Amino acid sequence: MSANSCEVDFSRLKLLIMPQRIQKRRLETIKIAAKKRGVQTVSELSTEVTHIVTEFETVEQVVRALKKDNAATLGDVEIVSLTWLTDCFKAGKVNVATEAYRLKHDTLESADNGNEPEENTSLLPEWACQRATPLEHHNHHLTAGIETLQLYSELRDLDQDYSRALAFRRASCVLKCLPFKVTDVSQISNIKDVGDHVKRVVKDILEDGSSAEVDQINNGEWFNKMKLFTAVFGVGPSTAKKWIERGWTSIQDAVWVEALSKDWRVRWGLAFHEELQSRVERPEADNFTAMVRAEAESILPGTTVELTGGFRRGKKMGHDVDLLISHPREGAEVGLLPRLLKQLEKRGVILCGSHERNSFTEDVLKQDFKLSLRGQLDHFEKWLGICKFPKQFATTQNGHDVVQEVAGKTDVCSKLSGSVEEDYEPKVKLRKLGCADECPRSVASEDRDWLARRVDLIVAPHSQYYYALVGWTGSKHFNRDLRLYATRVLGMKLTSHGLYNISQGSMVPASSEKEVFDNMQIPYREPAQRNC
Ligand code: CTP
Ligand code: MN
Ligand code: MN
Repeated sequence: MSANSCEVDFSRLKLLIMPQRIQKRRLETIKIAAKKRGVQTVSELSTEVTHIVTEFETVEQVVRALKKDNAATLGDVEIVSLTWLTDCFKAGKVNVATEAYRLKHDTLESADNGNEPEENTSLLPEWACQRATPLEHHNHHLTAGIETLQLYSELRDLDQDYSRALAFRRASCVLKCLPFKVTDVSQISNIKDVGDHVKRVVKDILEDGSSAEVDQINNGEWFNKMKLFTAVFGVGPSTAKKWIERGWTSIQDAVWVEALSKDWRVRWGLAFHEELQSRVERPEADNFTAMVRAEAESILPGTTVELTGGFRRGKKMGHDVDLLISHPREGAEVGLLPRLLKQLEKRGVILCGSHERNSFTEDVLKQDFKLSLRGQLDHFEKWLGICKFPKQFATTQNGHDVVQEVAGKTDVCSKLSGSVEEDYEPKVKLRKLGCADECPRSVASEDRDWLARRVDLIVAPHSQYYYALVGWTGSKHFNRDLRLYATRVLGMKLTSHGLYNISQGSMVPASSEKEVFDNMQIPYREPAQRNC
């Protein structure tokens, strides 16, 4: 085909590119590329439109976004994925939109039969842990505001705020698993987890595009300062409140604490604040995992190192790297972590951190534990700290070369010291693995080829492994719901160490994640569906 005929091809197109779910910058680039090739793009649907190009997944989503009643009213326009267009650009010609590119109908919504989507809400399982909650969902336009309200309650932390925060969490969680975009508050009127307050907020957002209550919080000075300060590693709401009371308004104001704070996390957290604030990207997490895996394997063959947390749930970015370490032979894991840490130190990977010893006893399974919103403390041996990620980690897909290269380097910063942290769980003994003599800021301002990254290393014995895997995969709310479900519905106790059957006085073993769910009598959910 000649260049000329391609141009003709492209100029025959009249596209309606739906902006939803496409990043602004990407959309601009695509529109420019289209224009360059003589493709016409329009913003309204008409009979002349040849293709609707979209990042939506189903025809029903497109129909709703265009505020149409059903797919029939769209006529015979082709509804295709954005990849169709970019593939055409790549090929330099207009490809026929094959099945692979065409949007499918949503089976749940039984296309075009006039079924109102809200009928589905009555089928929603009551518990978040029984539902599939994907990362990408239809209601970001609502959940962002509700999560602001949640965070505000959490940070304020006055009477009732905990239950208020939880109510917001439950509501945003249920909106995330709806198979449709909420466009009218009546669609969610029957959902138990959506209370009057949330309904008011949803109504405002749907009618006015925003909620005055949410906007007021988002623009509020106190809220922004709290967000700013609690983003520092080691700074919780109570410290942040103290800083605000002292009249501090910026990280800069807090910097003098750096040298004085007894908490190594605050000292290093402040010095490396900007870096620790920037999100860890997936390749960095993968490369770091590969490195730790190789190191663990060389110390104790057969050791398993699993990337958990948000990354395991499919997130592309995270605030840290959570690695769960175990060994198929029960007991083999004992003593592994100190050796691993020493090895990582030799590699120059460790910046600072604290090592918590295993404090597990049979009793912790049976004890009452608080189902807190912020964290679920477990008793595994673990190391929480900051590591140095070579800058190449961010750009190398396959970590091998980088892992090898970093292996050759040793580092002067990391030293062992033995002081005990006071700010932590008082019951656990801590050994600090930090740079006691080093001034964090001077390390930060060195000319360096690494980035500071938060890392959690957790060691679980094989018999508790799958419960630990579920626990450390999260999300936090998924865990909290699972645990509440275990208590309320099953009359059992669930922790990251296991499921305890109170009436039988025994543990319920699991040899896979699926068995954990089976034991809980709930449907298995892939990690990517635990994003509530
Ligand atoms: N977790 C836990 N015990 C802790 C801390 C965390 O069981 N002491 C669990 C949390 O429930 C969470 C997971 O481990 O689901 C990872 O915690 P965290 O890194 O805080 O959250 P992520 O979901 O990974 O979020 P991000 O991507 O921002 O790191
Ligand atoms: Mn994490
Ligand atoms: Mn973590």
